[in-house]
Amino acid sequence: MPHAAVNSPASVHHVTHPLVQHKLTLMRKRSASTVSFRALLGELAMLMAYEITRDIPTQMITIETPLETMQSPVIDGKKLVFASILRAGNGMLDGLLRVIPSARVGHVGLYRDPQTLQAVHYYFKMPENMPERDVIVVDPMLATGHSAIAALDKIRACRPRSIRFLCLLAAPEGIAALQAAHPAVPIYTAAIDRELNEHGYILPGLGDAGDRIYGTR
Ligand code: URA
Repeated sequence: MPHAAVNSPASVHHVTHPLVQHKLTLMRKRSASTVSFRALLGELAMLMAYEITRDIPTQMITIETPLETMQSPVIDGKKLVFASILRAGNGMLDGLLRVIPSARVGHVGLYRDPQTLQAVHYYFKMPENMPERDVIVVDPMLATGHSAIAALDKIRACRPRSIRFLCLLAAPEGIAALQAAHPAVPIYTAAIDRELNEHGYILPGLGDAGDRIYGTR
């Protein structure tokens, strides 16, 4: 499928596969340890990678099987960029890279101002030659959408061939905000939760993803 078709019109892909839902339930539990939270996030990233790359381009190459020469499809992993929104996005990188080890990695450093909940930039690094690359922006939590929008603003300025957004949990408010700001970017999520609380946390959610990945609280 040509890439223009992937990014138009934008859509929300709710990944309802039982394995994804099962692992997400385990992660949500308050009692999940840092070790198991991190491991489950890695496994979920692998499973979500399967969904989000469903329509990336393939090309035919000639290979030798033990019996014959044949034409067989491959992806060009180097054309993919996983753009992690720091710091929680990094929790999904290992899983994504296990599935597509040749992908490039970009980083967007943002933090949420606790008063305004607005995203503040402190770091941005993408690979070269972005116009020939397909970007998957990664952040486990799509809450207010402020960080995702700020990250996508910067990434879009690099003019990549296509952009997708990957999260685990999305709040309706975050989806609406992201779609309003970046209508051409498809969103892939394992769950759409009820709402945000007054601090911008997703309810029922799973708490602070960064703290739970890194054991900082
Ligand atoms: N970021 C998180 O880590 N958790 C939320 O619920 C919202 C934003």
